[in-house]
Amino acid sequence: MEKREKTILVTGSTGFLGSAITQRLLVSGCKLKLLIRKRDNDSSQISYVLESLLKELILGNQSDEDLQYQCRVVGEGSNKDKLLQELFISNVEIYEGDITSRGFGLETQEYTRLCNEVDEVFHCAAVTHFEMQGADEHMVVNVKGTENVLQFANSGKQKRFHYISTAYVAGKQNGIIGENKMVNEPLFNNEYERSKFVAEQLVIEYAKSNDIPYTIYRPGIIVGDSKTGATCKFDNLYLFVKVLFNMKNSFTKHNSEGLKNVTIRVPGDPDALINLVPIDYVADAIVAILRMRESNGKIFHITNPNPPRLRELRDLVLPFLEIKGMHVTIDRELEKQSLSAVEKLFLRQTRSYYSYLFSTLRFDDSNTQQFLKGTGIICPTLTKELVRTLIEFAVSHNWGEGKPTVLQKA
Ligand SMILES: NC(=O)c1ccc[n+]([C@@H]2O[C@H](COP(=O)([O-])OP(=O)(O)OC[C@H]3O[C@@H](n4cnc5c(N)ncnc54)[C@H](OP(=O)(O)O)[C@@H]3O)[C@@H](O)[C@H]2O)c1
Repeated sequence: MEKREKTILVTGSTGFLGSAITQRLLVSGCKLKLLIRKRDNDSSQISYVLESLLKELILGNQSDEDLQYQCRVVGEGSNKDKLLQELFISNVEIYEGDITSRGFGLETQEYTRLCNEVDEVFHCAAVTHFEMQGADEHMVVNVKGTENVLQFANSGKQKRFHYISTAYVAGKQNGIIGENKMVNEPLFNNEYERSKFVAEQLVIEYAKSNDIPYTIYRPGIIVGDSKTGATCKFDNLYLFVKVLFNMKNSFTKHNSEGLKNVTIRVPGDPDALINLVPIDYVADAIVAILRMRESNGKIFHITNPNPPRLRELRDLVLPFLEIKGMHVTIDRELEKQSLSAVEKLFLRQTRSYYSYLFSTLRFDDSNTQQFLKGTGIICPTLTKELVRTLIEFAVSHNWGEGKPTVLQKA
């Protein structure tokens, strides 16, 4: 146990993974400086973020073991809500800034003070969608932004640098991907992958040439919490299930005969490997590895060691939706064939994820497994029950769109 708890600058703490990591760092006693993007012309931003983060922490899924440890620090008998509030108030400072600006757009004095106070940087902020919106949005935020965060790590006090990459920097390669630096640039499925690849290379080169201790974490496709299903992001798996769910509800509502015996063909390789990992495993694993000095200079695949195949995933999801009479087949050659209206609708709504339905990448996670040995942190298997937990949460939270919904009986 180190004498003084570390001070960590976290980027991306309002995001899906960043908020889960922030919660865990907080209950483990770290002092946190959260760099949060400024909302235009909103002078109440800090109190809004403070309030919503606080709420998230209080309502979040802190495990009893984490809290027991923290209770020893803050005082026996503290109740969970009070404990988290106390921790937040005493250990968190919020800075409004932007990683795309040099010095994060902070006042020079404030930036310099931060450079001298922070022991470690946890860089999680990124643009994570796959669509091209601004011409070079991915490069500006994910690459230029990472360069600015590296420059911060290299100013003032020496700091450790933790970088959240993605397992899919592997792009369109096949086979088994190791936990090491990619030697050659692969072909990519989208600009997101390319920008994360370039940023990862930048982290390694910059850290090596400036003697910055660094660790890189490459998560798979993150889904909700394995115990509660909780998520604040409803992309990837959720998007596919939501389209099927809406089709089913629409057929049911209109009492349509169309559902009695309909086959929907979706594109993909039935044997594709879909590397879904629950957020609690990803965040627990990263925080455990982050605390080990020996992780310096290493890359970790925070992936599912037993990912389901696409056809297995389909068979796990469909019974839960109770879509009697509707069959979903997976077709490698679908794009060459003529499609029904329903199939066209399905394709249109899920297009940005296509390439992942053909991926047979396997991620070697030996480093991660070696570092997690004895911690009790294990990636949950994607069972029928886990899929049910994930989907039930998404349905009851209307896929993140406000009013809750229910699954209609067919
Ligand atoms: N989710 C996954 O399945 C997955 C898988 C593998 C790797 N990853 C990686 O994990 C990290 C977190 O992903 P996520 O899913 O949690 O993403 P997310 O929910 O979209 O969160 C992204 C975070 O980055 C912040 N951000 C974006 N641009 C910024 C800027 N210019 N300055 C400051 N902050 C900025 C966002 O702030 P605002 O709240 O202001 O938008 C938000 O806090 C990313 O590096 C991503 O590449 C994610």
